[in-house]
Amino acid sequence: MEVHLPEDHAARSLAADARSGLTATPKSLPPKWFYDAEGSELFERITRLDEYYPTRAEREVLDERAGEIARLTAAHTLVELGSGSSEKTRLLLDALRHNEMLRQIVALDVSETALRDATAALHTEYGSAQVHGVVGDFTEHLGLLPGEPPRLVAFLGGTVGNLLPDERAKFLRAVRDVLEPGEWLLLGTDLVKDPDVLVRAYDDAAGVTAEFNRNVLRVLNRELGADFDLDAFTHVALWDPVNEWIEMRLRATRAMRVRVPALDLEVDFDRGEELRTEISAKFRRETVADELAAAGFTMERWWTDSANRFGVSLSRAD
Ligand code: SAH
Ligand code: AVI
Repeated sequence: MEVHLPEDHAARSLAADARSGLTATPKSLPPKWFYDAEGSELFERITRLDEYYPTRAEREVLDERAGEIARLTAAHTLVELGSGSSEKTRLLLDALRHNEMLRQIVALDVSETALRDATAALHTEYGSAQVHGVVGDFTEHLGLLPGEPPRLVAFLGGTVGNLLPDERAKFLRAVRDVLEPGEWLLLGTDLVKDPDVLVRAYDDAAGVTAEFNRNVLRVLNRELGADFDLDAFTHVALWDPVNEWIEMRLRATRAMRVRVPALDLEVDFDRGEELRTEISAKFRRETVADELAAAGFTMERWWTDSANRFGVSLSRAD
């Protein structure tokens, strides 16, 4: 496990994000702060919910196409960004190992606990490959990634949709910049579909996503000494048809003042005021191809699951 960041990086960056997000109008927080140990656990529970189809749909594609991906890329290194539990990644790793190509596995995630568990398991299961775990932010620390070419960068789960459009463009260019021409990007993108299906996936009957959403407040309470009352916020998931994204928010059920001592800040909420905690953009094939092209990639393959819910693209760096 490699922690390539200064000890206080996470704390300083959380403090900066919380200050700018909580003092803005409307209020917002970046979704990366969901993922402490508990948030990562909650996300894993989400992936097993009936309503949350993306994980199963992407797994169906990878299951069917992993052999083809290994043959086309002939990758020696698999780099996974936002790797979480690296569960679906094993389909790719098995295929690369089957072709006797796999030398190195690099997993990068902001969640140190998720990364620690995942890399320990990968080390046991893929002992002949070198396993590197890098704690970092994929919007900032791509330059820190080790790995012997040819590399295949995998960014799965539809996490690219959690970036705002300008962040996404910048991120894709940064990925392109760390690759040599001919290296590969495998990108998972959730697709535009019936809004009812989408909203259900982000507002499940058992309330796991609501817990996940509120977890960001627990992180602020613990890390910054804030006094958010979690029970005073309800989970909101709505479909924005103009931007074609799901937006998750936390709605204050009463007017309140929240203290954030580490920031020397007091934040007032009106009754009904909403704090945006995540966008989850949904895509169409043409826009994915266009955005990849703008970043310097050529989309060589595009696959979807049998129900056309989720797209996986394989692109080569120009
Ligand atoms: N790839 C897995 C996990 C997706 S959940 C899957 O497909 O199931 C999103 C993952 O990205 C979490 O593990 C979270 O900790 C990580 N993550 C979110 N924002 C990040 C950021 N800015 N930098 C690095 N990792 C991030
Ligand atoms: C990680 N990411 C792709 C998930 C998503 O679907 O946008 C995070 C999530 N948020 C609510 N449920 C799952």
